[in-house]
Amino acid sequence: MAILQPLKFGFVGLGNMGSMISQNLATYAQTQRFPRVQLWNRTRSKIEELAQQGHFEIAGSLEDLAKSCDVIHACLANDDVALSIYRQILKAAKPGLILVDHSTLFPTTSSALHADAEAQGASFLSSPVFGPPAAAKSAGLLVVLSGDAKAKETVKRYVVPTIGKSIIDCGEDTSKGALLKILGNSCILGTIELMSESFTLAEKTGFDAGLFYEFIQQWFPAAAWVNYGKKIRDGAFSGKTGFTLPGGMKDASYIRRLGAETSTPTPIIDQAWNHLTSAKALGGEGLDWSACAAGMRVTAGLPPFKGEDFSLPRE
Ligand SMILES: NC(=O)c1ccc[n+]([C@@H]2O[C@H](COP(=O)([O-])OP(=O)(O)OC[C@H]3O[C@@H](n4cnc5c(N)ncnc54)[C@H](OP(=O)(O)O)[C@@H]3O)[C@@H](O)[C@H]2O)c1
Repeated sequence: MAILQPLKFGFVGLGNMGSMISQNLATYAQTQRFPRVQLWNRTRSKIEELAQQGHFEIAGSLEDLAKSCDVIHACLANDDVALSIYRQILKAAKPGLILVDHSTLFPTTSSALHADAEAQGASFLSSPVFGPPAAAKSAGLLVVLSGDAKAKETVKRYVVPTIGKSIIDCGEDTSKGALLKILGNSCILGTIELMSESFTLAEKTGFDAGLFYEFIQQWFPAAAWVNYGKKIRDGAFSGKTGFTLPGGMKDASYIRRLGAETSTPTPIIDQAWNHLTSAKALGGEGLDWSACAAGMRVTAGLPPFKGEDFSLPRE
């Protein structure tokens, strides 16, 4: 049996997703007797808390991380953050460094980072993921991969089952991985928008939301329908265990930008954008993006929020 070359991993970005993915990576590193996973995050307290829970060590700086790691995984909020962080890493990268990006980025941003990495003798893999933080915790993500074939070979040694349950390989062009993620999120946001409408109609017609959800479970047994349907049924939109509304608006803006750039109308996502905007204006900025339903509810004359997770400041 071939002996695996030990890999020194780094992880950057300990948000809702990264805090889960990094723990699975650390468990893998520990079982393989690889060095501890080096952690870096903007908010230091999150690193210190996580570092106590597994096979981790704290990186002093992004430069230290870049100098010592073979593979750095990252999951960051948006394009500006990703560009800034990766460019700091690449300045100090050792030759052959592989960057594995799980953020949802615009395709041209992924391409720019690929070019920057190549210029430094490093590789940038676009590896966005499908699934909420709970799926990240149970290594149940669908992992997209695109970029340099040799770097992908290294990462494919462990990504399944360490981080996810399966991979879709989009080839060597990193923009394609980013594109698949945006197309996929278009389907998910469209589903949230549609369920927001149907649950609102159920309430307005006096139909029991629980019974309607039972129908969804039986007839549309797919993760996006079942998970977001439950949140909309209950009005339980905690942002801490999901995908925040600003994150959802970022992805909606990518979909609309792709539509504008290619003269492709995106009417469902435009409508969802309006409902996300209303939900944000109503105080829901810290909630999950399925709080889109609150924007729909007000258009039908219902109070925006009904769930126990949300309390607007009272007069
Ligand atoms: N949540 C989901 O269901 C989900 C699913 C699939 C993909 N995604 C994608 O995964 C990425 C992360 O999502 P998430 O839900 O984990 O987001 P999140 O909880 O908001 O975490 C964002 C991460 O980015 C860091 N960050 C934000 N602004 C920064 C800045 N100016 N400088 C340095 N670091 C900064 C945060 O650091 P701090 O800890 O210091 O704030 C945190 O580590 C996003 O691109 C999202 O689209 C999310």
